Amino acid sequence: MKILLVGSGGRENAIAWKITSSEFFRSTDSKLFCAPGNPGISQFAECINIKADDIQSLFDFAVRENIELAIVGPEVPLSLGIADKFRAHGMKVFGPDKAAAEIESSKLFAKQLMSAYNIPTAKFKHFKRSESDEALEFLASTEYPVVFKADGLAAGKGVVIADSNEEAIEALNVMCSEDAFGDASQSFVIEEFLRGEEVSVFCITDGDDFVLLPFSRDHKKIGEGETGKNTGGMGAVSPVMKFMEKNISDKIVTKVVIPVLDAMRNEGRKFSGCLYCGLMICDGEPFVIEFNCRFGDPETQSVLPLISSDFLELLLASAEGKMKDYVLSVNKLFSCCVVLASGGYPDSFTKGFEIKGIEDIGNSALVFHSGTEFKDGRLLTAGGRVLSVVGLSDESLENAINKAYESVSKIRFDGMIFRSDIGKQLLIKVEL
Ligand code: AMP
Ligand code: GLY
Repeated sequence: MKILLVGSGGRENAIAWKITSSEFFRSTDSKLFCAPGNPGISQFAECINIKADDIQSLFDFAVRENIELAIVGPEVPLSLGIADKFRAHGMKVFGPDKAAAEIESSKLFAKQLMSAYNIPTAKFKHFKRSESDEALEFLASTEYPVVFKADGLAAGKGVVIADSNEEAIEALNVMCSEDAFGDASQSFVIEEFLRGEEVSVFCITDGDDFVLLPFSRDHKKIGEGETGKNTGGMGAVSPVMKFMEKNISDKIVTKVVIPVLDAMRNEGRKFSGCLYCGLMICDGEPFVIEFNCRFGDPETQSVLPLISSDFLELLLASAEGKMKDYVLSVNKLFSCCVVLASGGYPDSFTKGFEIKGIEDIGNSALVFHSGTEFKDGRLLTAGGRVLSVVGLSDESLENAINKAYESVSKIRFDGMIFRSDIGKQLLIKVEL
């Protein structure tokens, strides 16, 4: 089978690694292409120089190569309708149609869906850019903190938390100015701030049946102790055992997962692919912070090593509507993924620094590439998030964390930054 993976980040590197180690992939003599890919992905796939949002060129390539299955990593091509176009031509796709991808590409659609179907989420109000007076009035009488969210896609950065009326007015100005989030903040929501613990839940579904992968914890802020600006994600650990206990995971299934899949079907937007449920657990109750229409990055890098059943068959089961027959099994590993980023990220940063030391890591950790490029025989930094280093242990999360950081210490490039507290909050809580 010929497979096309779309994307170029650490998430796609982990997906390419996992697909090509699948027994089904090997026994069927399959071939993996990736567009556009990156140097890490090129170890597993033939990289094709087509951008992930160039839907027409991806389609032409897929038709020419007789691609049978397309796996779409990022949200942008999904929100542009790549799955609709490929499916209309008879190809199988892992990922939702455009209408279903709106669960991520419009915060307002997602919030209204949750209200209409009683899916627990923060209380919210919606404003258009032209309604800043109404928003000001609302902010004068609300409780703080509040959370501003641009309606459209903003690469994980369209969220501003305001602790006071003063900060909220500043945030409102940002939302209403065109340069901050462009069209993404044509309209925005202001919502209640939820206090609790976050967990990311990947639901792999064909729209009817589903399996949940081991839960993970992202670390979204740039600074240690969850301080500073939001990023795409600075690290992740899995499994988050305490929320996988039956009493909480049952609530996640009955109050969030089943209702949202039913709601999407009911709205004529049946969702297939990976529905990422970003949850806040508040006093043992799950609340939805966001839905994404694809795997999370960097959570994928820490979750995929924990799957022991065939990963390609899992993606195919979703694409073919056969989730009912898929039996998920997971191993007993713990994982910790530490993201190495360019100095300055998530603001502006310089690229083009040589990356050294990956070859010294050997088998003690997995290294996935996000923003890297090969130039004149050297591996260079080429993005904000550069590498994901994943430590694994069959003993404890603590061991997995230590393994990740031992390997991190071997890698260097000018300006390299990373958080040194990935997963550590979970260790403290377990000991208490
Ligand atoms: P999002 O892009 O929606 O995932 O939001 C980014 C981050 O902002 C989340 O991971 C949370 O840490 C935080 N956040 C978003 N919405 C809320 C909320 N209603 N209450 C508390 N924190 C939030
Ligand atoms: N790690 C958060 C995301 O992928 O949206």
